[in-house]
Amino acid sequence: MSISLSKLASQIGDSPTLKINAKARALKAAGEPVIHLGGGEPTYPAPESAVDAIIQKAQTRKIKYTPSSGTPELKAAVLGYTQQHYGRKYELNQVIVSAGAKQALFNFLLAAVDPGDEVIFPAPYWVSYPEMVRMAGGKPVIVHGTQGGLGVSANDILNAVTPRTKVILINSPCNPSGQIYSEEFIRTVVEFAEQKNIFLVMDDIYHQLVFDGKKTPNPCAYAKEAKNLVIINGVSKLYGLTGLRIGWAVCANNELIGAMGRIQAQSTSCNGDLSEVGAAAALKGDQSVVADLCRVLQQNRDVLLAEAAKIPHVRVEKPAGTFYSFMDFSHYNADSNALAQYLLEKALVAVVPGVSFGAEGYLRISYCADQASIIEGMRRIRWALDENAPKEIQIGDKLLTRN
Ligand SMILES: Cc1ncc(COP(=O)(O)O)c(C=O)c1O
Repeated sequence: MSISLSKLASQIGDSPTLKINAKARALKAAGEPVIHLGGGEPTYPAPESAVDAIIQKAQTRKIKYTPSSGTPELKAAVLGYTQQHYGRKYELNQVIVSAGAKQALFNFLLAAVDPGDEVIFPAPYWVSYPEMVRMAGGKPVIVHGTQGGLGVSANDILNAVTPRTKVILINSPCNPSGQIYSEEFIRTVVEFAEQKNIFLVMDDIYHQLVFDGKKTPNPCAYAKEAKNLVIINGVSKLYGLTGLRIGWAVCANNELIGAMGRIQAQSTSCNGDLSEVGAAAALKGDQSVVADLCRVLQQNRDVLLAEAAKIPHVRVEKPAGTFYSFMDFSHYNADSNALAQYLLEKALVAVVPGVSFGAEGYLRISYCADQASIIEGMRRIRWALDENAPKEIQIGDKLLTRN
């Protein structure tokens, strides 16, 4: 008889994005010409400011533990960034730096949620939200829009609130849909949450990755004391520094940030010394890298949409930000897991099934790859779904055969 694992272990599923990434990587390692449109990280090189600072620090040969909730230098850089982008001045004890936005959010949930407390978020949602809420003992409450399409209104959110609601969690622009929540939506939710004393978490990890001159509405513009408003961000998507694992949470509620700090101190002790140095340098360095990244991503998005338009029955809402597009493929197969599996096996294209984001029938297609990969990936998807196309196509020395 094998030794039993915890109830928690049996309840927590794999991250579907990491799973598809792993499978695509394994196929690639086996020599298969896989096109990866499932990823969640820009291929953009790291900013020079970050690389130089990390090298300099490494050469001191002092790579040690750091203060548990972040070095004062990095915290100050985060507060400078926050003041610049949100127009609000926070103090050093109102920020915690963690191993990615993901750990910052998880620390928050552990600090804020008691068993049975409800955490509301709209669908489609980032795949990790439900599992993270459950791991913290909370109850995920998923809100589907009532107006059709991918949109969820502020009223849809407010209507889901009960006496057990502890947190409302908003990610704008949204992974996977790329939609930005409107000024009106943000204003209503910020004012409501503050008045009702409900935590409002803004997962703003993509807030600067926006296109066509659009801006992500600023929640701080509508908050008064903002003791309930938690802003989460990080360097992963902003600078393509996913490998540093640096994110943060900012909140005017010192008690909350203190509790998150204690949880972090007792679990991971602190962040990587080199990572903190690199993140601080990126935040203080030349910010034109962000505008450059947006320009590339916007061009990639347009290429992707032009390719998608060649597939007759796919429905797309133009993404306003992020590097994802969430497309309705239900005409071809309402089972998005089966469809993603089929596309990986037959067309060697990795995409992520929509069901993992709470929207069956959809696929999430990333456009953080290079344009040639986007075009080739979409060409293969079109081929795999077109009944009238030849059953076989040649890709280099590989013959692809579809159903
Ligand atoms: C919506 C959202 N929040 C948070 C994260 C986590 O980012 P980090 O790499 O900073 O942990 C991601 C990464 O995919 C994300 O899509």
